[in-house]
Amino acid sequence: MQLSRFGKKFTSDAGITSLMDDLGNALASGEDIIMMGGGNPGFLPEVEDAFRRRMQQLVDNPALFRRLVGVYDPPQGELEFVQAITAFLNREYGWSLTDKNVALTNGSQSAFFILFNMLAGESADGTFRRIQLPLIPEYIGYADAGLADDFFSANRPSIELIDDHLFKYHVDFESLAVNTDTAALCVSRPTNPTGNVLTDGEVEGLDLLARKSGVPLIIDGAYGTPFPHLIYGDATPIWNENIVLCLSLSKLGLPAARTGIVVASEEVVKSVSGINAIINLATGSLGAMLALDMVQSGEIKRLSREVIRPVYQQKAERAVALLSQLLVGLPYRIHKPEGAMFLWLWLEGLPVTNRVLYERLKSKSVLVVSGNYFFPGLQGEWSHTNECIRITYSQDDARVEAGIRIIADEIRTLFHQGV
Ligand SMILES: Cc1ncc(COP(=O)(O)O)c(C=O)c1O
Repeated sequence: MQLSRFGKKFTSDAGITSLMDDLGNALASGEDIIMMGGGNPGFLPEVEDAFRRRMQQLVDNPALFRRLVGVYDPPQGELEFVQAITAFLNREYGWSLTDKNVALTNGSQSAFFILFNMLAGESADGTFRRIQLPLIPEYIGYADAGLADDFFSANRPSIELIDDHLFKYHVDFESLAVNTDTAALCVSRPTNPTGNVLTDGEVEGLDLLARKSGVPLIIDGAYGTPFPHLIYGDATPIWNENIVLCLSLSKLGLPAARTGIVVASEEVVKSVSGINAIINLATGSLGAMLALDMVQSGEIKRLSREVIRPVYQQKAERAVALLSQLLVGLPYRIHKPEGAMFLWLWLEGLPVTNRVLYERLKSKSVLVVSGNYFFPGLQGEWSHTNECIRITYSQDDARVEAGIRIIADEIRTLFHQGV
């Protein structure tokens, strides 16, 4: 088979593919693997019950059932849900959105693919522009989403050391410059893989810089507010005509329904919808129809804040406490867990690379993700990229504890052996 440039790029080794492969193979192997690698949300009975009840309603009502499975939605997505989200965000945040500011996609992952490639790459005038990540490490799923090579530029963060064993990345505004080859800025807030939540000041700074430079600011709120609200402190949401806010129903508990929500200017929404129609014809209606009533009633906010967030926050606290107890005496630091569902562990001076640690953990039936994947666009060497791993704490508590014990054991062995 002779592959096109596209075929070659999208079939060669990609971080996200190897991650999804590992997850899939581990699940299919029948082995008792402890999954601390993916971004799958935990299974929360109250949330599952709410969706099950709604699903029953849809199945029992012939007109709704027909809408659920028998009708192509328009390119912008299920209109009643688009209207409900628009009204909900306006109610919550006092924004002035119309339903022309919202489009649905099959998961936010596909929104990023569309947005990145409609903004960056080769322009009509022959110039090449990139998606700029103002703070890496950043989400592994961006890294291979560009149709062209050399698609990202990135800025190293400044690092704040907190107490003996925590740290926090910050946007280093001194080194952050938007150039003529910048197509857009993009940040996840909360950040995958680190659990960082950019401060309000940082987001305001990025917004200002983006507007001054005439490029959009894409904010990935897959873990953000108003849902699933995996944010353990305060963080003010922000939107204006220059911001493209991407939300998702996945981390709320509907990853299989594949529903992404793009909130942007009319021009961006129209373009995203048009491209979405070419790629997908229509967006699936399942997520939109399952979540419709809870968006209309505002119940989605209560579930997020009172049910979902506390569960994850407790899991984060438990995981940090256990890791801290088991790694005592070793040179470790954990990124201050401010949100999402990950611990980002920095092992300065680890005698092996994080890839080796990952393989060793895998051979002991624990899957984490090696941190090196999360630095797309980085120029030059940075030893830090080989010293971090991402640990997901969203799954069952007993499994997470067992996994952390194995991880800590392996790290201790490696530091002591000095391999
Ligand atoms: C930061 C971030 N953004 C976007 C996504 C994509 O999520 P989905 O396509 O399920 O909406 C993920 C998934 O893990 C993520 O972690």
